[in-house]
Amino acid sequence: MSENTPNLSVDQAFDLSDTDIADLCDASESAILDGGGFGWLKPPPRDLLERYWRGVLLVPERELFVGRYDGRVVASAQLVLQPRNNEAQNRIATITTNFVAPWARGHGLARDLAVACERSARQHSVRFINLDVRETQEAAIQLYETLGYERWGTNPNYAVVNGKTIAGHFYTKSLRGGSRKKGRKK
Ligand SMILES: CC(C)(COP(=O)(O)OP(=O)(O)OC[C@H]1O[C@@H](n2cnc3c(N)ncnc32)[C@H](O)[C@@H]1OP(=O)(O)O)[C@@H](O)C(=O)NCCC(=O)NCCS
Repeated sequence: MSENTPNLSVDQAFDLSDTDIADLCDASESAILDGGGFGWLKPPPRDLLERYWRGVLLVPERELFVGRYDGRVVASAQLVLQPRNNEAQNRIATITTNFVAPWARGHGLARDLAVACERSARQHSVRFINLDVRETQEAAIQLYETLGYERWGTNPNYAVVNGKTIAGHFYTKSLRGGSRKKGRKK
């Protein structure tokens, strides 16, 4: 490995240090300012962003995966499972908020995050993953289509950004095989 090759890793986050949360907030802010936020069009106040990420860790149906670049959190994605009462959909999960800080893109972190979400979904006996992206999120569209996600529909009225109506594409992928995971977050 050359000296300039970054050390990259992706893991599920069960707990995050204050430094990790600060790095995740920095990464979120830079992604939002770059136009690729996850719903946010402008960075929210820092304390709200921090509470958002700490809240994600507490939601039983949400699994947070983080991508690290030389040890610092620069990316994340969430696997959203169904609440226990939703038996009809307990084999369905969603991947959301897969983003990478602009300066850390192009190293495969988003792909590794999506694959980590899929691996965990399989372990929960999930059979299908659904997700949706704005039509303007071209890198994400490429990413998911190359991972085998099938576009099944487009909603022309998916989002309104700076007064402009934006379409959104809806994808689904069937998962095969894998071993069952014991338990979820309590
Ligand atoms: C989409 C995003 C997460 C990709 O992050 P990344 O770490 O650069 O992606 P990776 O390096 O893992 O690349 C994986 C694949 O994504 C696609 N991709 C990444 N950047 C791309 C670009 N600029 N143009 C087209 N495709 C691109 C490619 O298919 C790539 O595979 P390849 O390297 O084999 O060609 C990043 O651009 C981002 O944060 N965008 C804003 C947020 C967003 O759109 N999130 C998705 C919906 S919530």
